[in-house]
Amino acid sequence: MIHDPPTAATPRVVLPVRSEDLMGGLPAGEAKRLERAHGNRDLMDLLDILGIAGPFRTTSPWELEDADGRHLIHAGGYAAVPFGEAYPPLRDTVVRHLTEGRHLGLPQQSLSDWRAAVESNLIALLAAVAPSHADSRVFFSNSGAEAVEAAIKFVKAYRPGGGRIINFGRGYHGKTAWALALTPNEEYQAPFRPLPGPVQTLPYGDLDAFDDALRQLGADTVAAVIVEPVQGEGGVLHPPPGFLAGLGERCKKHGIPVIADEIQTGLGRTGHWFASVADGLDPDVITLAKPLGGGLVPVGATIARAPIYHAMLPGTDSKRHSNTFGGGTLAMVVAQRSLELIVDDDLVAKARRDGEIGLARLRTMAERYPDYVAEVRGAGQLFAIQVRAVAPEKRLPVDPELVHLLGAALALRALHQHGVHGCYSLNAQRVVRLTPPLNLPEHLRDELFDRVEATAATHKQAWKLLGTLSPGRWLRLAKLAL
Ligand SMILES: Cc1ncc(COP(=O)(O)O)c(C=O)c1O
Repeated sequence: MIHDPPTAATPRVVLPVRSEDLMGGLPAGEAKRLERAHGNRDLMDLLDILGIAGPFRTTSPWELEDADGRHLIHAGGYAAVPFGEAYPPLRDTVVRHLTEGRHLGLPQQSLSDWRAAVESNLIALLAAVAPSHADSRVFFSNSGAEAVEAAIKFVKAYRPGGGRIINFGRGYHGKTAWALALTPNEEYQAPFRPLPGPVQTLPYGDLDAFDDALRQLGADTVAAVIVEPVQGEGGVLHPPPGFLAGLGERCKKHGIPVIADEIQTGLGRTGHWFASVADGLDPDVITLAKPLGGGLVPVGATIARAPIYHAMLPGTDSKRHSNTFGGGTLAMVVAQRSLELIVDDDLVAKARRDGEIGLARLRTMAERYPDYVAEVRGAGQLFAIQVRAVAPEKRLPVDPELVHLLGAALALRALHQHGVHGCYSLNAQRVVRLTPPLNLPEHLRDELFDRVEATAATHKQAWKLLGTLSPGRWLRLAKLAL
């Protein structure tokens, strides 16, 4: 056997941080120091100025504690935390798999029991509400954006010719190349143009505009339409009744595949297994991600009708699209158990019930505090609170987007101070969202909405949020903005 001679140039590295240091948590301030030095410093600074940077520790699957010991109810996680943190029935399955399972970790080039199970279970769930999908196929990846990238490649392989993709205003599909091209937001897109295309963005919910566009463009030039059944990052926006069904009918007539992006809405969040199907659409491709990872691991999935799948992955070209980690066994164990928990605990029905209760609570709050809340919206366990502008944006010498960002950021801070861990909305103005675990116990659900209302009751008028930052924090914020 030939060994390379030892090289003097290979230094022995001492890792500055070890797992043993991390298990009980780093000393106070240490995560901040390390992240500021080597991570997204400006984002961490912004969160720190707002007092919502954490790090957080869990006290139960649904409750957190911040560095000051403040108790928080978990309504964050961007709809990707379906059972709370390290939910014991999920955690135990993972531990059991890791200790007893004898499967390959990454069975890229071989059959996999777990991957096969998740493929067939996903199709069984889908076909139960959309029978035309009985023989559809699943491709796994590692994030929502990656599931969208795969979806675009599927439809382009199925309808070749460089056709355009139709998307909708305020849509959010992720931040990788194609996903970004389909996410109409100047802040995210501008520095990266030219983006993949052509893309035609139409107003969400407007079938007349869709008809006009098809007439002008010609249906043959359209490779696919991508649509969210409810725009999550857009601020929980529903299309008008009949839009999704009408879109489906029109596309079917012209043979244009429809991609339903259910990454945020799918698998129970909105009180339905598939929000698009519940609203009368029978999509040709469906993208899924967030809840499949059980709040633990990244999992993306793209479901496609068999002919669309085979157009992209035929015969000896069946490796034309692939990735290293998609369908990995740990991811599939979590996805499998997550599906089981949603089914066994009837979490889809619970999301619908809790969604109605929560939205009623938010509407009452909006009526009581109209100068704080502009509007509330909901879709199952996906809630949006749009606050009033914190300043008269038209008269200020700053970008109105900055005023909107500030409003949402201060509203998020206010929620935090009242013990609610919420989330920002990546593609909306002045919107904070609540995406509680689907299995949030009732007493915490009620307490969550009590706390949300207490936030509005404390401030009563949105502009008063400006007074919640100390002069020192304003100064730091100004420095960051400049
Ligand atoms: C509808 C939708 N599509 C795609 C994505 C992108 O998913 P990811 O952040 O996992 O890339 C998101 C994320 O919020 C989403 O809500």
